[in-house]
Order: sequence, then C-alpha cells, then structure tokens
Amino acid sequence: MSENFTTTQSGAPVASDAHSLTSGPDGITALHDRYLVEKLASFNRERVPERNPHAKGGGAFGEFTVTEDVSKYTRAAVFQPGATAETLLRFSSVAGEQGSPDTWRDVRGFALRFYTTEGNYDIVGNNTPVFFLRDAMKFPDFIHSQKRLNGSALRDADMQWDFWTLSPESAHQVTYVMGDRGLPTSWREMNGYGSHTYQWINAEGERFWVQYHFKSRQGVHNMGNEEAERLAGSDADYYRRDLYENIEAGNFPTWDVFVQIMPYEDAKTYRFNPFDMTKVWPHADYPLVKVGHFTLNRNPQNFFAEIEQAAFSPSNLVPGVDISPDKMLMARVFSYPDAQRNRIGTNYNQLPVNQPHAAHVTTYQHEGNMQYSFNGSEARVYAPNSYGGPAADPVRGAEGGWETDGAMIRAAQTLRSEDSDFGQAGTLYRDVFDADAKDRFHDNLLGQCNSITRDEIRERFFQYWTNVDENLGRILRDGFAAGAQGTTDGEADLAAKV
Ligand code: HEM
Repeated sequence: MSENFTTTQSGAPVASDAHSLTSGPDGITALHDRYLVEKLASFNRERVPERNPHAKGGGAFGEFTVTEDVSKYTRAAVFQPGATAETLLRFSSVAGEQGSPDTWRDVRGFALRFYTTEGNYDIVGNNTPVFFLRDAMKFPDFIHSQKRLNGSALRDADMQWDFWTLSPESAHQVTYVMGDRGLPTSWREMNGYGSHTYQWINAEGERFWVQYHFKSRQGVHNMGNEEAERLAGSDADYYRRDLYENIEAGNFPTWDVFVQIMPYEDAKTYRFNPFDMTKVWPHADYPLVKVGHFTLNRNPQNFFAEIEQAAFSPSNLVPGVDISPDKMLMARVFSYPDAQRNRIGTNYNQLPVNQPHAAHVTTYQHEGNMQYSFNGSEARVYAPNSYGGPAADPVRGAEGGWETDGAMIRAAQTLRSEDSDFGQAGTLYRDVFDADAKDRFHDNLLGQCNSITRDEIRERFFQYWTNVDENLGRILRDGFAAGAQGTTDGEADLAAKV
C-alpha cells in the first residue's frame, strides 16, 4: 500500500482516479459515486469571475528596500530608512479578457503591494503617469467602449474613438497609448506610476502631496505594430512567459522608487489642478526624490491562488499615507473591495496572498462566506466591550485629510489658469516624442483612422488631434485623404473588417 494516495476533499482514500462506479463494466453510472460527483462538481466551480478590467495579467513576489531618508515627509513604517518589505506586483492589460494576447496595444496595469508591518499598502497604478478620465462617473462607460459590441461581441474602433473623441480629457492618455508606450517589449521593460496624487503624512502630522514613479532598471523599451501582431498570433502569453522565465533563470527585474513631493499649501494655488489625473506634474516644479528600489525574485507557486485571487485595492492604506481629493481615487477606494467581494468572496482578505503580514490583525468583523480566521471562543465581537477587546487608537490610526468645499454639487472641477484637456497631450507629442516616435505615432493613428467606419466619428477624430496639435491634425487629415493606410497591431484591423 502506497502512502501517497488520492483522497476526497474530506480526506478519505479513494479507490480509482480513472474509473467511475458503474453497474458492470459497460453499464450505467451510479449517482452515489461520491468521488466522481465531488470531482465534477469541484471542476464546475474552478473558475471565479475574471477581473472586469485588467483581466489578463501575471505577477511575481519580491522585496522592497528603502535606501534614502524620506522620514520628514511620511511616518509610514514601510518608507523609513533601511526598511524592507515583501512585495507583490501584478502586471496586466486593461481591456482584453483572460485569454487575450498580451501584445494588443493598451495601457498596462502595474499593481504593487507592500506587505508592511502596519498592514498591506497597495499602489494600484499603470505604466503611464496619467489616465483617460477625471471623474469616476465615466469609468464604466469608458470600459464598455473598450470591451465588445452587444451583438457581434467584437471589439470596435468606432466605439473606442466615439467615446474618446466625446471625452476630450482622454487626449493625454490616448497620446501615450497610441505612442510607443502602448506596446512595451515586456512588463520588465516599462515604468510604473501611481498616476494619482496621493498624500504623505509625517510624524508631526504635516501633510504633503506625492506622485509615485517606479523606474525600470531594465530600461523602457517598446515594440512596433508588426512585431506585436506577430506575437499576438504566435505567443499570446508573451509577457507572462517573459516575466516567469526571467525570474526562473535568476534574472530578477528591479525598479527604483521615486516620488514627486508637493508641499500641502502649493496645491491650493498651483497653476493647474494637481488632483486631476489627466495631468503630470512637471519635474522642473517637483523633481523626483529617490526612496529605494524593489526587485521581483519569486514566481508564484500557484497562479490561481496567488495571482488570480490577489485583491489589490487603493483602499489598502497604512498610517503615514492617504488618498487625495482626486475624484477618480475617492471612487476607486469603494470600487475595488466591492469588486473583490463579488469576484472572490466576502472573506477574500483571509486568503494567504491577501493576509496582511502585520503582527497585529484584530477586527470585529466576522463570519460570512468561507470564514477561515476567527477569534477565540471568549472574544467579544462588538465594540466597545468590557472584556479587554481591542479599541481603536486615534493616534496610531490617524488619517490624512484636507479642507473641502461646502456645497454638494455635481460639476466639473474648478478651472485654473493652465487647466485644459489638450495642453499636456500637445507637449508630449511636440517635445517628448522624437522625430521617429512621431512618425510611428502618425502611422499608428492613420491605421486607427482607417479602422473607423463612421464619417462623423472620423471627423471628430481629426478635430481631437487638431486640438492636441494643429500640425498633427493636418498630417492625419492629409494622410487619410491621400489614402495612407497606416498600421495597427492587428486588433483594430479586425474591427475595421466587421
Ligand atoms: C474610477 C475609476 C476606476 C474604477 C472604478 C476602477 C475599477 C477597477 C476594478 C473593479 C478592477 C478589478 C478589481 C478586481 O477584481 O480585483 C480594476 C482593476 C485594476 N485597475 Fe482600476 N478602476 C479605475 C481606475 C483605474 C486607474 C486610474 C488605474 C491606474 C492608475 C487603474 C488600475 C487598475 C489596475 C492595475 C487593476 C488590476 C489590479 C490587479 O492587478 O489585480 N484603475 N479597476
């Protein structure tokens, strides 16, 4: 008798991995074959819903080390001089589903977790420093426009450009995604950004506004449409494979961690709204301040348990850091845990990958689906209690905060002298893209333009890019009139043929 035997989920040895219980070798199958029933029922429940946006991804664990002293800006234990923390980083595409090719042009997710001594701190960002929107009310509409049509279930260039050209605040991010950074060579070779403005609070309670930058030591490298299209056909999991194989081979990718720091009072009078995530803060105004670096050095042992079930959230904050009055960020704080209660289950924070490594986890919240951790039999489950249960500590748990306006209204942000939808997109195009990058950008946009089937949307497309830069608008209009086809990464091509 072998000591390495198969069991049912309740631990009893099973008689066969291969044969159902039947009435004679060729007869009917018995419903009371409890092992067959358990096996099929378990199989039917293997999938959990995929993440709505950012479904396709991959990730790895690593270590963060603080090499500088930023303690005058934040009291967060994880950012104190010499601190180290285990990290988890998940990369992703935004629009495609679980099985979609990694090399479709898209923004890439960059979700970073620090398992700190004060609880999990997640910075759920992207590989671009800005975003398409500045109000969460539009986020579901935006994602719908990037996903699939009702009837054909195909992605559709008309739908994407319809939304973008009717949402001019998207121009800066669309310039990024249609530029070289829309097709990274690998996840290892791209930068990450917190994208929003966050808050740091020091030991004296002084507040600062910060933006995170994670600079790849592998450099930033990108691929062209043809290469992306070839890879989408030959190796849909190209980025996932690259990350996994590099880590297996001991080639550990590293990112340097920087922040831009804005004094709290500056935000009130800065020339554009510093909480508008369609904007970057010029480095001339707020230079990069080094914090440390992190290295990914361990692949997951089980992709489902450790990457699919990982639940990153902008609401996972620790003392010394907080959010800001960015209307996107305030809504994200609600949205992620809500999605995860639905996607994974009520007690998703009790799964090993989501369990905080903090020495002290005591909460009065309990029960619900799949409870795994529980307090002792004498523990009371209400606060306050007179049985020595934990009590909130207003000093330890002190939050950030900010002054707000009084009236409750629905409105666009207050405009400042340099608030505009197109200004920074124009600067990115004119001053950051070199001549070759501009050529590739034009070619790419002409490919997109040819994928649009409705004249009205194409006209808005020309106007949108004219608003970014007049010369750019002219190049696109003239190129299209002259029959220039441009190129795409294949995905939009497909849409054009519908
Ligand atoms: C109001 C705006 C937004 C809403 C409502 C929203 C909502 C969501 C939801 C529901 C998920 C799936 C979460 C899960 O099932 O675990 C998700 C994933 C994600 N979102 Fe957002 N999102 C918003 C904006 C953003 C922005 C601005 C960024 C980046 C700066 C971002 C980056 C990500 C990333 C990286 C993931 C994947 C996280 C992972 O790897 O597990 N999202 N988002």
